[in-house]
Amino acid sequence: MSHSADRPATLPRVTVPNHVAIIMDGNGRWAQQRGLPRLEGHRRGVETVRTVTNAARELGIKMLTLYAFSVENWNRPKTEVSGLMGLLEFYLKQELKTFVKDKVRLRTIGRVDELPAGVQKHLNHTVAETAQFTEYTLVLALNYGSRTEVVDAARAYAAAVAAGKEKLNDSSWATFSRYLSTADMPDPDLIIRTSGETRLSNFLLMQGAYAELVFTPVLWPDFTKADLVAACDDYARRERRYGLTAEQIRQPAARAAK
Ligand code: IPE
Ligand code: IPE
Ligand code: MG
Repeated sequence: MSHSADRPATLPRVTVPNHVAIIMDGNGRWAQQRGLPRLEGHRRGVETVRTVTNAARELGIKMLTLYAFSVENWNRPKTEVSGLMGLLEFYLKQELKTFVKDKVRLRTIGRVDELPAGVQKHLNHTVAETAQFTEYTLVLALNYGSRTEVVDAARAYAAAVAAGKEKLNDSSWATFSRYLSTADMPDPDLIIRTSGETRLSNFLLMQGAYAELVFTPVLWPDFTKADLVAACDDYARRERRYGLTAEQIRQPAARAAK
């Protein structure tokens, strides 16, 4: 429930989240509602990716992470999986010149080394060609799942401890999180999910510990810049307390007073 009307107008408001992460959902239903094959929904979904990447940059959102394919999505029908991989390859091929023109850096999270060779080739190329850009970053979550990511990180961390590179007694979130695929990324400030589902589906579970969540009924192919702006507006009206009291947040002096 929103009580924004009760809030004092003096609240500090950060209108633009630094890092927005989106669970792009509803392509299949969008297509089915129109009697079209599911892949047509994914095709339209790619159009929305273009629109939203542009919109995010125009709004000054520095980092945009898009959940494009989950570790669980391999279990979909073979034709849908290969269709999605084909679309991804096509998108990467087409988009490189736009990334370069707009100075957008592309990076990925997830087990990219398990993707088809053609996709990996275009990914590596695009990531390398855009690595010098620092202002805007587009992160594609591909073959991503939080639980897989944490298990991979735990394994790498354990190996580092065994090799004497990390000390078990010094374990902290700060040290452990360097082994996640999001290692040098800021946590998401805002996580948006389209299509009316209100779950996280194994997406950024650790990194989203203090993210604000916005759920919208809009299906991903129908999602527009206006919907992104609306989500950011919603975000701007939230008060992020990180475990503190509202008073501590509103008057930082109260924090020192204890
Ligand atoms: C999201 O749309 C895209 C991917 C998961 C790849 P869906 O394909 O999940 O669409 P719905 O949920 O079936 O409508
Ligand atoms: C989450 O959507 C994964 C992506 C958006 C890539 P799903 O459609 O796969 O999630 P569930 O199955 O509804 O939880
Ligand atoms: Mg779905």
